[in-house]
Amino acid sequence: MADTATLHYDGKTIELPIVTGTEGERGVDIRELRAKTGLITLDSGYGNTGSTESSIAFIDGEKGILRYRGYPIEQLAAKSRFTETAYLLIFGELPTPAQYTAFRALLTEHQFMHEALHFHFDGFPENAPPMAILSAMVSAAGCFDPALAHPEVDGHFMEASARMMSKVRTIAAASYCKSIGRPINYPRFDLPYTANFLHMMFSLPHKQYEPSPVVVDALDKLLILHADHEQNCSTSTVRMVCSSRASLSAAVSSGINALWGPLHGGANSAVIEMLTHLHQSGESIPSFINRVKTDRTTRLMGFGHRVYRNFDPRAKIIKEACDNVLKALGIHDPLLDLAMQLEEVALHDEFFVSRKLYPNVDFYSGIIMRAIGIPTDMFTVMFALGRMPGWLAHWREYRTSTDARIDRPRQIYQGYTQRDYVAIEKRKESRD
Ligand code: ACO
Repeated sequence: MADTATLHYDGKTIELPIVTGTEGERGVDIRELRAKTGLITLDSGYGNTGSTESSIAFIDGEKGILRYRGYPIEQLAAKSRFTETAYLLIFGELPTPAQYTAFRALLTEHQFMHEALHFHFDGFPENAPPMAILSAMVSAAGCFDPALAHPEVDGHFMEASARMMSKVRTIAAASYCKSIGRPINYPRFDLPYTANFLHMMFSLPHKQYEPSPVVVDALDKLLILHADHEQNCSTSTVRMVCSSRASLSAAVSSGINALWGPLHGGANSAVIEMLTHLHQSGESIPSFINRVKTDRTTRLMGFGHRVYRNFDPRAKIIKEACDNVLKALGIHDPLLDLAMQLEEVALHDEFFVSRKLYPNVDFYSGIIMRAIGIPTDMFTVMFALGRMPGWLAHWREYRTSTDARIDRPRQIYQGYTQRDYVAIEKRKESRD
């Protein structure tokens, strides 16, 4: 295959190098395009733009493949733990037993919030969205802990990443307790990462929460499935903020805000709202599907993905996990029945088939979280906990890259050409 692409423009011919990835993906390197031709490329939504070369996750959207550092997501979901997968993503290799013990010890050692941070929760109104609290508190945590703000990217990054993962988990659980008027639970030293989170969410002063292994496993799997997804909206945000040399806590806090939107991580709670609406209103599935197709402002939430055009491999694993958890806990959730019926209808409907719209990771994840007892407004916070290792891995990759520059896209300007300033008394009241 050719190693350059030829562009003919304005009587000139220029050669642009082709960059080939380890999985055979090919891209045209256009870095010299403007200098040689005066042209830039235009790609709104970045659907066809590679912003970086990366070795963290690989997605083949046509074949429905997702791998973290080369390992298929199916194997990691079946055999790994969230903290082990986090180590893999951040540092590039599965940990040896000694490395894993050290990482887990750091997660435990740094799990406390600074005591002063407890008072910050009192400044939020009772109905404050948990994602707003999480992003504000992560920013605030950087003020109390310089290692969260400006960690070194060499050997010390293991401690910084453990601090961030662990404290964010503590903050997330505390924001839930505060939102329902319960005292904040301190983390325990005897519990691993996921079980400890459930303890901080659900233990009461008079009654310790003892999570069942089924619940811990289901949540751990969910976190693994969310741990990274290459250059998605929130990860690209983390990388962009990182490119300005802002702090790690600032970059992560920005990632949380980007994740919040309903077209991204916020879709998991939007799916439950959609299913609840169908359940309570009695609107039939054909009527709802018809509404999605005709009123184009209504979307089938949990369906569609920019990259997956066949199926989202995470959705397959989650659907199976969802069945298992509900069976093991003896729960029958009518929303699961509705979700399966919706999926069945959409997968055979020309509108969705022709646009290659399939269930994504968010379609079934909310049903698992409901079964575990996590409230809907915490779903996107759970996504943020899961995505934390990915953000940390990308932050580190960016900071250790030798050719990273500040991210600064260009534009094609379509506004007024030059015009002269008009004194205020000479301006007309209406410009109709
Ligand atoms: N329901 C109905 N129609 C849809 C949906 C959907 N869920 N998703 C896409 N479409 C339609 C669009 O209207 C568009 O139709 P058109 O070509 O006739 O105009 C076509 O499919 C292509 O859609 P785009 O919005 O251009 O696709 P894009 O790649 O920009 O968006 C996205 C991807 C945001 C995920 C979109 O599919 C969507 O809004 N899905 C619902 C929200 C959701 O589940 N988000 C979670 C994504 S996974 C994640 O972030 C973790």
